[in-house]
Amino acid sequence: MSVKLLLDKANIEGIRYYDAWRKNGGYAAVEKALKMTPEAIVDEVKKSGLRGRGGAGFPTGLKWSFIAKPEGVPRHLVCNADESEPGTFKDRYLMEFLPHLLIEGLIISSFALGSNVTYIYIRGEYAWIPDILEQAIAEAKAAGWLGRNILGTGFDCEIYVQRGAGAYICGEETALIESLEGKRGNPRIKPPFPAIKGVWDRPTVVNNVETLTAVVPIINMGGEEYAKIGVGKSTGTKLISACGNINKPGVYEIDMTISVEEFIYSDEYCGGIANGKRLKACIPGGSSVPILPANLLLKTAKGETRMMNYESLSDGGFATGSMLGSGGFIVFDEDQCVVRHTLTLARFYRHESCGQCSPCREGTGWMEKILKNIEFGKGKLSDIDLLWDIQRRIEGNTICPLGDAAAWPVAAAIRHFRDEFEWHVLNPQESQVRNYGLAHY
Ligand code: NAI
Ligand code: SF4
Repeated sequence: MSVKLLLDKANIEGIRYYDAWRKNGGYAAVEKALKMTPEAIVDEVKKSGLRGRGGAGFPTGLKWSFIAKPEGVPRHLVCNADESEPGTFKDRYLMEFLPHLLIEGLIISSFALGSNVTYIYIRGEYAWIPDILEQAIAEAKAAGWLGRNILGTGFDCEIYVQRGAGAYICGEETALIESLEGKRGNPRIKPPFPAIKGVWDRPTVVNNVETLTAVVPIINMGGEEYAKIGVGKSTGTKLISACGNINKPGVYEIDMTISVEEFIYSDEYCGGIANGKRLKACIPGGSSVPILPANLLLKTAKGETRMMNYESLSDGGFATGSMLGSGGFIVFDEDQCVVRHTLTLARFYRHESCGQCSPCREGTGWMEKILKNIEFGKGKLSDIDLLWDIQRRIEGNTICPLGDAAAWPVAAAIRHFRDEFEWHVLNPQESQVRNYGLAHY
C-alpha cells in the first residue's frame, strides 16, 4: 500500500469546499508556515528533495533559491496549470477535486518567495476548472487566508486565475509568461531564466500544480521526513495519470519505490492489460519521452527491475531508457501500431510548434509527412533513415524543448520498432487496407 500525501483526503465528501477541507486539517500548514521565516520554508523544501513535477524534475528548493531580490522590485509566483502533455491529467484531478490543497500550497510558496501577486495560468481546455479555483480562492479569502495582512503577519497575497487559449506551447514557462503578459505565447531564449527576469521582467518562479501542492505535506511533516519517503533522489510521492490499454485508467499516487510491473499489473493501480492482451510498449512520462518496448520497460538493459522513479526510468539514457517526465503513463497492447501512434504525435507537435525556429517549424512538418507516407503504405525504406536524420537535426537546435519533444518519440520508435516501419514499406497494400477510411488523417 503506497503512502498518500496528496490524495489522502480525495474521497471525503464535500472536500472541494472550504468547510470540509478545514474540518479535515486544511490550512494547518499555512498556519505553521506563516510562523516560520521565508528562508526557513525554502530550507524545508530543499531538505525535502522535492523535484519539479511538471516534467523536468528540477530541484524545487534550488529553483526557489535562485530568485533574484532586487530592492523595490515585486516578485511573482506563477502556478503552471497549462497541463497539455498528451497522457497527462493529474493536475486536472488536483485542481478539480482538491482545489484548497493547491491554494494552501500557493499561499505558503508565495510567502516563501515574497510574491504578493500570484497567478494560476490554466489551459483553455480545462474550461470548467477556473470556476472551481475562483470559488476556492473566494472561500479562502473570506476565511482570512488571502488578502491583506494574512493572520496579522503583515503578509499580503492575492491569487488570480488566468485562462490560456489552448496552445500546448504556453505550458513552456517563458511562453506562458509571454501569454500572461497578453502577448502571443512564443518561448523566450534562456538565460535569463524567469527567476531573474520573468513576468514583466520581474523575478518569477514558475512551478507546476503538483509541485506546489506537495509543499503542503512538506510543511506539515517537515522536509527531512518527506525525504525519507521514496528512494534516492526520487523523494516523496508522485502522481501518475495512467491511460491506454489497461483495466483501470486513472490518477494514482505512488511513493516511487514500486516496480513498473507492479504498477501495471497490480489491482491497486492499473489492474493489468485490458481484454487479456499482452503488453507491447509504454510511454512512461507523457508524450515527449521515449517509448519503451515491454522488455526494456519491465527490466533495464542491465537486467535490473525497472522502478517507477526518476533514476530507474532514465537508466540507460535514451538508448535503452526513458523518463518519468510528467507522469503521463500511456500503455500499448499487442494490437497497437507504433508507426500510427508516432504519426499521431508528430501531427500534434507540428500543429503546436510556434514556428519561431526553422528546425522545429520545418522538421515537425517533414516528419509528419514522411510518417504519413510510411503508415499509409506509400513510403520507401530510405524514408526511415531520412526520418532518423531529420529528428537528429531538430534535437538540441531549438529555442525551447518542444523541438526535442517532437524528435525523441520518433527516434525511440525507430530505435525500438524499426521492423514495424519496414513492415509498412514492404506491405503497402496491407498498410493501405488497414488504414482504409482514414485518408483524412
Ligand atoms: P528545463 O530543464 O529547461 O527547466 C526546469 C526548470 O528549472 C525551469 O523552471 C527553469 O527555469 C529552471 N532552471 C533551470 N536551470 C536554471 C538556472 N540555472 N537558473 C534558474 N532556473 C533554472 O525544463 P522545462 O522547459 O521547464 O520543462 C521541460 C519538461 O516539461 C519536459 O521534459 C517535459 O517532460 C515537460 N512537459 C510537461 C508538460 C505538462 O503538461 N506537464 C507539457 C510539455 C512538457
Ligand atoms: Fe517554437 Fe518549436 Fe522553436 Fe519551441 S522549438 S520556440 S515551439 S519553433
